[in-house]
Amino acid sequence: MTGTSMHPIRVFVRWATTQRKSVSIIGSGPSGFYTACRLLSKSPIPLDVTLWEKLPVPFGLSRYGVAPDHPEVKNCEQTFTEYARKYLYPGVDGHTFRFRGNVTIGKDLELNTLMKRQDAVILSYGCSGDHKLGIPGEDDTKGVFTSREIVNWYNGHPDFAKSEKLNGFDWESVRKVGIIGNGNVALDLARVLLSCRENDIWAHTDINPFALSAFRRAPIQEVKLIARRDFVHSKFTNKEYRELWELEQYGIRGFISDQYFDASKIDLTNADRVQKRRVEMTSEYLKPFNERTKKNYRKFPPPAAGFKKHWEMDYLKTPLRINSGADGKLKSLTVCPNILSADSKIEPLAYEEIDYDMDVLITSLGYGSSPLVDFPSLNIGFAKNHVYNDRGMVLNTQGSIIPGLYVSGWIKKGSSGVIASTMADAFEVADMVITDLRSVASSKSRAIDISGVRFTTWKDWEKIDLEEKARGKFQNKIRDKFIDTNDILAFLREEIPSSIEDGSHIGPL
Ligand SMILES: Cc1cc2nc3c(=O)[nH]c(=O)nc-3n(C[C@H](O)[C@H](O)[C@H](O)COP(=O)(O)OP(=O)(O)OC[C@H]3O[C@@H](n4cnc5c(N)ncnc54)[C@H](O)[C@@H]3O)c2cc1C
Ligand SMILES: NC(=O)c1ccc[n+]([C@@H]2O[C@H](COP(=O)([O-])OP(=O)(O)OC[C@H]3O[C@@H](n4cnc5c(N)ncnc54)[C@H](OP(=O)(O)O)[C@@H]3O)[C@@H](O)[C@H]2O)c1
Repeated sequence: MTGTSMHPIRVFVRWATTQRKSVSIIGSGPSGFYTACRLLSKSPIPLDVTLWEKLPVPFGLSRYGVAPDHPEVKNCEQTFTEYARKYLYPGVDGHTFRFRGNVTIGKDLELNTLMKRQDAVILSYGCSGDHKLGIPGEDDTKGVFTSREIVNWYNGHPDFAKSEKLNGFDWESVRKVGIIGNGNVALDLARVLLSCRENDIWAHTDINPFALSAFRRAPIQEVKLIARRDFVHSKFTNKEYRELWELEQYGIRGFISDQYFDASKIDLTNADRVQKRRVEMTSEYLKPFNERTKKNYRKFPPPAAGFKKHWEMDYLKTPLRINSGADGKLKSLTVCPNILSADSKIEPLAYEEIDYDMDVLITSLGYGSSPLVDFPSLNIGFAKNHVYNDRGMVLNTQGSIIPGLYVSGWIKKGSSGVIASTMADAFEVADMVITDLRSVASSKSRAIDISGVRFTTWKDWEKIDLEEKARGKFQNKIRDKFIDTNDILAFLREEIPSSIEDGSHIGPL
């Protein structure tokens, strides 16, 4: 059980039924979509599944988080599309599927309304906030960004793509970038910033052209990834780490001081395969190309002209404050060294301060989350970036199960896990919903009126998708994303109103 120590008791009316049931899922990222796919493919009871999404388009972080140079990761969107098409209203096998985009639950439609009118509601709304260091200068220094701001910007998220803070920043003067954190998002950021001028990586992607142009105007030479723990506790995974080293083919070289990485001092007796590979990889890549003993690390020779950019992994540092000049622009980050206690607690050595000069600082500390506005009135438990739950069954603030309310994906446990683990979690939750629905008597009125909201449907999304791909083809890119919600809605206005294509929400679902 997460969030509380009390033992929950499940109270359900034991009444086997095959009566049609209605399920609403909040959020159309990988967790919401995989939950929907599982429900539709496995439920013996006919289901009406509605996926509610605050953006006019689906797929959450698959579209707006996964780096544009990793299009293969977005293959899950193909699976989601196949399911959506198969079950789209009026559906098959007795099931129906609806997508309702541009509807924010908690603003355009209350969670309470969904809970009253649907047999099950699943919270899959992910983590769309920031974690903070809480140090001076973090919020008011020009040139300090969170990973979410930069990632959303380069992925063309409508709330960020046209941001003045990002587009209006003086990228022309950025030579040194600091990134706090060394998770995979930090590695994504380092790779994007360092490789952005390489046309063979970026020209065909759907990266937001405004962001790409800004990065290309920046004469970036150095990216320093600053971690609070040691090398052994690095948060990144090996595939992403290797990709960073492989940038040496473009003249981008990695470095780790022997103060933080000395293979001879790392005890690998109890290390797993992943740890051993990471140590081997680092030892080999740190050597000059021709001195590497394993072929595996000699695939991409550096250019004859040598290295023009560098990245560095720094360890065992605690950020203390961010320093700016009279113009309010970032000048440096002050850190102090720290040591790790035997139980891996961080002990800062605050008497020794070090200043790192930099022009941009990105805090990449994981994504934060927040409760929906009607959580307090519904007494739904929420703390430490997740909804209180017992294996996906939502708990109230006293630790008792709230019947019919579930949670899956990042909002269930906080911002960790790749798409594959998010899928596994979504399947488990969906299986539990299917079991529970067998014993729930459907007595709920299903009518949900969103007539005042300009919602988008799955067919709308398919039109947007086609248009983006067509525009992309014209520019020899995978797609050219709409980056403004108004442009999406204007484009759709010229099309047939979608509410008559896949079922209206004015009246019963
Ligand atoms: C920058 C980044 C890069 C990543 N790259 C990879 C990768 O390369 N490979 C990999 O396997 N994993 C990657 N991941 C992890 C992967 O993205 C997550 O595992 C996955 O997206 C979590 O899915 P989710 O559905 O829980 O959340 P999300 O994907 O965030 O989906 C939540 C959805 O809910 C919507 N929503 C939020 N609030 C509301 C509301 N009130 N009403 C209606 N809708 C709402 C959001 O708009 C969003 O569409 C990456 C993550 C990040 C942050
Ligand atoms: N290609 C991919 O597969 C891919 C790409 C991107 C993201 N993802 C996944 O998405 C999830 C989120 O990734 P993420 O990189 O955002 O988060 P993450 O993996 O949790 O990394 C967060 C980093 O921030 C550090 N940090 C947190 N708070 C800090 C503080 N107060 N001071 C200093 N450092 C702090 C953490 O250090 P500690 O370790 O000390 O806590 C860690 O290094 C992960 O599961 C990741 O694997 C996958």
